[in-house]
Amino acid sequence: MKLNITIARSENEFDRLAAWRVVGEILNNPRAVVGLSTGQTTRNMHAVISEIFATHPFDVSQATIFGVDEVTGVSRDYAGACYTMLRTQLIDVLGVPAENFIMPPTLSDDFDAECVKFSGELARRGGVDLQVLGLGVNGHLGFNQPGTPFESTAWVSKMDEALEARIRRDTGIATAPLGGITLGIKDIMHSRRILLVAKGESKAEIVKQMLTGPISIDNPSSVLQLHPNCEFLLDIQSAKLL
Ligand code: GLP
Repeated sequence: MKLNITIARSENEFDRLAAWRVVGEILNNPRAVVGLSTGQTTRNMHAVISEIFATHPFDVSQATIFGVDEVTGVSRDYAGACYTMLRTQLIDVLGVPAENFIMPPTLSDDFDAECVKFSGELARRGGVDLQVLGLGVNGHLGFNQPGTPFESTAWVSKMDEALEARIRRDTGIATAPLGGITLGIKDIMHSRRILLVAKGESKAEIVKQMLTGPISIDNPSSVLQLHPNCEFLLDIQSAKLL
């Protein structure tokens, strides 16, 4: 199957193209269910969506916005929690009604029940129309690290060591377990449309593997080769090995 690859010529073009994919989805379908990802790659794209909203306000009152994953074991107010990042970068700016901003919790006594609730809530709203996904340098999608079965549904995964070390440094949490609650690979693949975003030279090798390598759980992102409606949005640096 031919893959749908877009290569932006500059970072600015990358952020604008990504932002308009999300805005366009909501303009086409005001009741859209849109999944976002946090991280360096999407930060500016969220800023551009905010900018577009400020100059050409669009109706978000019926749209559902959610995050594909969340850190567990920290407070939701921690600046590195996906909830707080998405709220400050986008949700509050757009004025998305609280009941339409769906995030799994960071703390719970029963994460299994929370996983069921999270995916159940998305299903109740008709399933995911557009899922924006960042890409880990090891190929992870959401918090689905290499080795995650393609059949996985929402679950709590281990956190990668670098991220765990950073969060412990930031928060002073010494020993309490940290993890990542995430939609599973199967949930992600059920999205009607996916936008995979990757920028920067550090992603060049994994981008090449994702698009041309074997489809294997060793590289979760490779599964996207099988999705019927996935656009891979890259910048020149991340696409340089193609
Ligand atoms: C974290 C998040 C992912 C995100 C990834 C990419 O691991 N849990 O959802 O896609 O980072 O981050 P960055 O864009 O900073 O490379």
